[in-house]
Amino acid sequence: MLDLTPDELLTTTRAVRKRLDFDRKVPRELIEECLQIAFQAPNGGNMNTWRWVVIDDPALIAKTAEIYNGGLDDYIASFGDAGYPGAAVPGADRIDSSVAHLRENWHRLPAVLLPMFAGRTDGLNLFHQASLWGSCLQAVWSFMLALRARGLGSAWTTGHLYREKDMAELLGIPPFYTQVGLFPIAYTIGTDFKPGYRKPTDEVVGWNGMPKG
Ligand SMILES: Cc1cc2nc3c(=O)[nH]c(=O)nc-3n(C[C@H](O)[C@H](O)[C@H](O)COP(=O)(O)O)c2cc1C
Repeated sequence: MLDLTPDELLTTTRAVRKRLDFDRKVPRELIEECLQIAFQAPNGGNMNTWRWVVIDDPALIAKTAEIYNGGLDDYIASFGDAGYPGAAVPGADRIDSSVAHLRENWHRLPAVLLPMFAGRTDGLNLFHQASLWGSCLQAVWSFMLALRARGLGSAWTTGHLYREKDMAELLGIPPFYTQVGLFPIAYTIGTDFKPGYRKPTDEVVGWNGMPKG
């Protein structure tokens, strides 16, 4: 385990792409340990409607790479001539080259995690949508924190969801399930990570009302 305080763990768990070690195998026991920690996250009625597919078969990972990259292509194409709206964010260049690096190397990942939950949010009211998503997302973040605490890393990705049906077909996921994203799993190259850019607090936090920003 890395020597990190809780605050250091929470503020330095980054989207890791360029510093994923594609050549080092990750033991299944380690992934299962991180999942056990993730399962302690809150979830509606403690119903554990989440399901988790871990992929460590290289041939299958190569197929997830095709779907992930195809999904990102669809996403990029959806912007047309207007271009990507996040381009004005500080550090956008570095995000772009980092995303590109992961795309190019996805097929080399030692393992990939696909979390999902039972149910579809399409057409549901806000209560039911929030309850479904809110019964899975924090467990995924816990998983990423548990990886980081052990010298591994991941990156939250949703790119493949443009092609969720292809992924469902590949892995035999019934249509009733909602896929949450796709998460690389690898040791990181080095373990020193820093807090990232975020908007200033007074722009995003309001006391007794909406923030000014
Ligand atoms: C909902 C969501 C979707 C994301 N989708 C992708 C993705 O498809 N591909 C990718 O490389 N990164 C993706 N990211 C990672 C973000 O780009 C990253 O979290 C952001 O740039 C901030 O970097 P940091 O997490 O290191 O602070 C996603 C993050 C979130 C939360």
